[in-house]
Amino acid sequence: MRICILGSNGQLGRDLIEALNSHDLVPFTRKDFDVTEHTRAKTILSGVRPQMIVNLTAYHRVDDCEANPEHAYDVNVLSVLNLVRIANDLDAKIIQFSTDYVFDGKASTPYVETSEPFPLSVYGNSRLAGEYLVRALARRFMLIRTCGLYGHAGSQGKGGNFVETMLKKARNQESIQVVSDQTVTPTSTKDLARQLALLLPTSHEGLFHVTNEGACSWYEFAVAILEIAGIQANLTPTTSVVYKAPALRPRYSVLENRRLKNLGLNRMLPWRDALAEYLG
Ligand SMILES: NC(=O)c1ccc[n+]([C@@H]2O[C@H](COP(=O)([O-])OP(=O)(O)OC[C@H]3O[C@@H](n4cnc5c(N)ncnc54)[C@H](OP(=O)(O)O)[C@@H]3O)[C@@H](O)[C@H]2O)c1
Repeated sequence: MRICILGSNGQLGRDLIEALNSHDLVPFTRKDFDVTEHTRAKTILSGVRPQMIVNLTAYHRVDDCEANPEHAYDVNVLSVLNLVRIANDLDAKIIQFSTDYVFDGKASTPYVETSEPFPLSVYGNSRLAGEYLVRALARRFMLIRTCGLYGHAGSQGKGGNFVETMLKKARNQESIQVVSDQTVTPTSTKDLARQLALLLPTSHEGLFHVTNEGACSWYEFAVAILEIAGIQANLTPTTSVVYKAPALRPRYSVLENRRLKNLGLNRMLPWRDALAEYLG
């Protein structure tokens, strides 16, 4: 299958290229075209005639989105609309990514694909609007919601990833404070890419939650990183109120891979095993 991957030099993109290497891949980065350049995107993608377009691009600096809502909507909504139209014209399936931040975090059990979203931030709102466009207009699509990604390429958009940040601070003997009142599922892009290599070529459609298994707070995740890496550090828990990030984040945004499980396709590792694989 000919597959175009947009945002291919990001952390998930790099691992996805490896996992999908039996396909005819055409990777694109921002250097080839910015997704906000709608005409250019159409000309280039039409020239390739893919059967599938995987859109990994996003403006996902969550706090910056609060100050730049127009840019957030430009990348996360209007560019998605353009890609949906291109995919429809080419009769290609579009694979769009989204986030656990579409939820308000008031739940105490994992969110499933049918749970009602209610975003708290500009970022979450823009991603949900992108989702709705895909669901309403794409002829063939998959929407993949995931959470807390880390991969060897480091998040291009966020400048590193949480695991590397913790390791760097610990090695520099900095004191580290991490919030313990936000519960998530950290997800390895390597494991996610393996799962996507199984899911994407199927004829399934619609929304899928795809994260590693289990849940922890960011503080517990930091403890596990340092424990597995065997590094001592001055690490203490803090709260979102003390941390004072500009964007509100859900207190609990654990996703359950319910559809994958129902289809017998869930291969995602427990988060601690995936972390050990990454650090190994
Ligand atoms: N990271 C997380 O914790 C997380 C959680 C939930 C969902 N997701 C979603 O999962 C997907 C993959 O995430 P990731 O962590 O692999 O992201 P990433 O490492 O930041 O990669 C995103 C890629 O998209 C490119 N890009 C961004 N804006 C673009 C634009 N306007 N035009 C063209 N290219 C653009 C970036 O290029 P540059 O390098 O030039 O910026 C980067 O290569 C994204 O949709 C993300 O929002 C991520």
